[in-house]
Amino acid sequence: MSSSAHSDILRIRKPAPEAPAIAVRDRLGRPLRDLRISVLDRCNLRCGYCMPADSLQGQGVFLPRESLLTDDEIERLVRAFTCIGVHKVRLTGGEPLLRRGLVGLVRRLAGIGAIDDLALTTNGILLPRFAGELKAAGLGRITVSLDSLDEATFARMSGGRGSAREVLDGIKAAEDAGFGAIKINTVVQQGVNDKGILDLVGHFRGTGHVVRLIEFMDVGHSNHWTPGDVTPGATLREQIHRRWPIEPVERQSASAPARRWRFKDGRGEVGFISSVTEPFCGQCTRARVAADGTFYSCLFASRGTLLRPIVRGEHDSQRLVDYLAGLWSGREDRYSEIRGQAGDADPRVEMYRMGG
Ligand code: GTP
Ligand code: 5AD
Ligand code: SF4
Ligand code: SF4
Repeated sequence: MSSSAHSDILRIRKPAPEAPAIAVRDRLGRPLRDLRISVLDRCNLRCGYCMPADSLQGQGVFLPRESLLTDDEIERLVRAFTCIGVHKVRLTGGEPLLRRGLVGLVRRLAGIGAIDDLALTTNGILLPRFAGELKAAGLGRITVSLDSLDEATFARMSGGRGSAREVLDGIKAAEDAGFGAIKINTVVQQGVNDKGILDLVGHFRGTGHVVRLIEFMDVGHSNHWTPGDVTPGATLREQIHRRWPIEPVERQSASAPARRWRFKDGRGEVGFISSVTEPFCGQCTRARVAADGTFYSCLFASRGTLLRPIVRGEHDSQRLVDYLAGLWSGREDRYSEIRGQAGDADPRVEMYRMGG
């Protein structure tokens, strides 16, 4: 078979039968289950914890268009990842809705039988324009980032761009399009938005949506993180409990970053992603691929492996699958568990480049 015929196996128009998953474990015994793909590193907001405006000086901050994986290449890569265990895919950014043709990409990925969960993380601003088309294209779930309902606090955290009103309109558009149980991601920065958390939780209580309170993390190298900027999840849990009693949800997915708690009065749930004070590396089944096709084995990596040449070239699909299996089996990251002990390596890759 010619090499181009081989590469056809992973092309989408005529879907190949799904290959059975080969169980691959990393050096700490963790399987691969989730793939997070950043489809673009640009964003229409400038959240200080992710993409502070003062870090974007000069040329070459964002990836040049020609280095981005095409839709074909992303689909080929996702199919290869399903052969080694991935069944859950999340599209991230930057802001994924800024990628041209995103709806078409979603439609292609939704057609991959081995993917049973296709989700998107967005800042919500463009949802009024795209929510209906995304639903029709087969997107399963949407997560929206929203840090405060107070416009002044929102502006302080978003670098003065966008507004809480626009994000709420985006959430409404997603509801109208048929997305239920939307997850609302809230990064909590001590002394910035921690005082408004009860308002936010109260706003979404009883709506079926789930607020997840995320500890501000030291991802990337330009967000000026210090340990004093972190409000521990346990502190927020106590505050919420005093206002609306909550209890832990017993059966939880071991690999999910969020610990789930429910309101005792039956008005829904709230989640806590406490990666700083309660790390969850032991169950980390997540791989990340940036928009240029760089594979990262941890959110806190300083370097990754560029897959673009092997995906873009006329290599056969099995070679790609074997290569990915090799990458995963060599993985031993557990940054959140050893934070502070790791010697100072190269600067960590920014969150907006790697995807959240
Ligand atoms: P579900 O698929 O609904 O379970 O969502 P998720 O919680 O896996 O994904 P989401 O993008 O909503 O994750 C929320 C946030 O949790 C991310 O933006 C990160 O801040 C944090 N997070 C997710 N995965 C990891 C991880 O592997 N390590 C660390 N340290 N933080 C993570
Ligand atoms: N700490 C915690 N979460 C972060 N995110 C981005 N930067 C950080 C950080 N420094 C996450 C948030 C946001 C998503 C897009 O990325 O969850 O909602
Ligand atoms: Fe954009 Fe999300 Fe980063 Fe904010 S956190 S700058 S919305 S990618
Ligand atoms: Fe996974 Fe790295 Fe996050 Fe630990 S710090 S949970 S290894 S991504």
